[in-house]
Amino acid sequence: SIIKLQAREILDSRGNPTVEVECTLACGVKARASVPSGASTGVHEAVELRDGDPKRFGGKGVKKAVAHVNETIAPQLIGQDARAQAGIDGMMIALDGTPNKAKLGANAILGVSLTVARAAATAADLPLYHYLGGPNAVRLPVPNMNILNGGVHARWQGADFQEFMVAPYGASSFREALEWGSEIYHALRTVLMDKGHRVGVGDEGGFAPEVSSNEEPLELIVQAIEKTGLKPGADVGIAMDPASSAFFEDGNYHLRTEKRTVSAGEMVDYYEKLIKTYPVVLLEDGLAEDDWEGWKILNARLGGIIELVGDDLFVTNVERINRGIREDVANAALIKLNQIGTLTETVAAVRMCKKAGWGAFVSHRSGETVDSFIADMTVALDTGHLKSGAPARGERVEKYNQLMRIEEELGDAACYAGKEAYVRAVR
Ligand code: PGA
Ligand code: ZN
Repeated sequence: SIIKLQAREILDSRGNPTVEVECTLACGVKARASVPSGASTGVHEAVELRDGDPKRFGGKGVKKAVAHVNETIAPQLIGQDARAQAGIDGMMIALDGTPNKAKLGANAILGVSLTVARAAATAADLPLYHYLGGPNAVRLPVPNMNILNGGVHARWQGADFQEFMVAPYGASSFREALEWGSEIYHALRTVLMDKGHRVGVGDEGGFAPEVSSNEEPLELIVQAIEKTGLKPGADVGIAMDPASSAFFEDGNYHLRTEKRTVSAGEMVDYYEKLIKTYPVVLLEDGLAEDDWEGWKILNARLGGIIELVGDDLFVTNVERINRGIREDVANAALIKLNQIGTLTETVAAVRMCKKAGWGAFVSHRSGETVDSFIADMTVALDTGHLKSGAPARGERVEKYNQLMRIEEELGDAACYAGKEAYVRAVR
């Protein structure tokens, strides 16, 4: 049973405070987990509690969330069986009492939820992916590596579209996929330098060049893939997250780099053209978080040919995903633990997606720590694909490195998801 829960403020990859929680069990087991933080956060996400004290970290301190763990949550959970994940998460949800975890903070609640799961796995002497997923958790996901950053992750100095990812689904193992991704990443740097682009990176480790359109990164990435000797489309696909809520205003989409403002229908036309020209297999947040009518058009036009993922639209929330299924607006949901705030609710979101035949695309946040919980979770929930940024920078590669360890540990039992992991990708 749990004998101690201790939270503290640590720094994330952007140098902002975040919550870390340690759990101690009566058997002597200790575990630790930390919480990530988004920059292009959806308005419907669970609340990330910040102190708002301008004298510390520009208001971004998390001392209140830390105190909520140590003073409010811990006393309630001492003595609980760490294996009772759903009960513990349910207790915290009840203790909070709000629909969006505004009182205690999703960052406080999630830190506890994750450290308890890890402690229980350690006590059971099981790797986290087997503890969460059972003995059949053996499939390694396709890594979607974000090698070109734009939008808010590049302070609007580059493309409007936030993420351009490479998906080496043609590899025969996770390890090989990561090797291909790393080679493409380095080839892209050479392509950019040859063209006189700067090669500074954005929040997720991808390059952040100034471009004159949102099509240009696709062209550059195809060149980088070809430079490594791999085949765009056959070996490696491209996934895009325009994170379009960030440039949606007054009912229209404002493409700053292209100096034009377009409607939802015109955005869909644009995506259709890009998908026909480049090997794009997944489009996330192609339209904005409350543009349900636009999403209906998007899914009707493109849902039959690629995976359409809702991130800001669904925020890992079963109520919003359920509406999405009913209204047929997408065919996949992004899965981010801290958008909803507990492991139990995250698992429920993945189950709902699977039941509907939808994809579930597990994701890191742009502000990360070295915690690799999502690597194990992706294998446990058998979601087939995840995104964790560029194949560079410690907080990004730690997830990929953990997946290589898992693959090695599984040995002959391991299998690599490949292209079938993408909804509608096998045409
Ligand atoms: P965020 O971006 O972590 O900054 O919200 C990730 C995403 O939009 O998928
Ligand atoms: Zn997104």
